[in-house]
Amino acid sequence: MEVLVAYESRGGRTRRAAEAVATAVRERGSNATLKALSETTAQDIERSDAVAVGSWVEGFIVVNVGPAKAALRAVGQLPDMGGKPTAVFCTYAVNPRTALATLRRSLEAKGATVVAENASPRSHPERGAAELAGRLCASPRAT
Ligand SMILES: Cc1cc2nc3c(=O)[nH]c(=O)nc-3n(C[C@H](O)[C@H](O)[C@H](O)COP(=O)(O)O)c2cc1C
Repeated sequence: MEVLVAYESRGGRTRRAAEAVATAVRERGSNATLKALSETTAQDIERSDAVAVGSWVEGFIVVNVGPAKAALRAVGQLPDMGGKPTAVFCTYAVNPRTALATLRRSLEAKGATVVAENASPRSHPERGAAELAGRLCASPRAT
């Protein structure tokens, strides 16, 4: 199985979270490719059996909190995901609030089937990555 792990990261924490997801996918015997979300092409999506999309949380701490605007922009450029199993994750400093739900909806609007989600604090970006990868790899359409 081919899993694409696409991330939007400015300071490297979400990239670390993405690396942890990719490592956990590989430990389960599948292939994982890491890619910046902004560089993810239609071809990258097409050749993947499952996709994980991660973003940092952007806002003014208590207002307008959501996935990074750059992440939502990049998701908007993706092709139709055709029901592909998809996981969403984010890293945050204070509180992710509705960031995961917003990211999830943006991917569902692209036809993704979101099967797992995880928010990890920036102090522990790899927290929850293994469980997320486990759910993604075990989803029926991804096997
Ligand atoms: C401009 C800006 C706005 C942020 N707003 C929030 C916020 O509203 N809530 C929050 O919990 N973290 C917020 N953060 C913290 C980041 O989401 C967090 O540090 C994240 O792990 C950064 O990921 P990165 O290293 O991949 O860029 C903000 C960070 C920046 C730079």
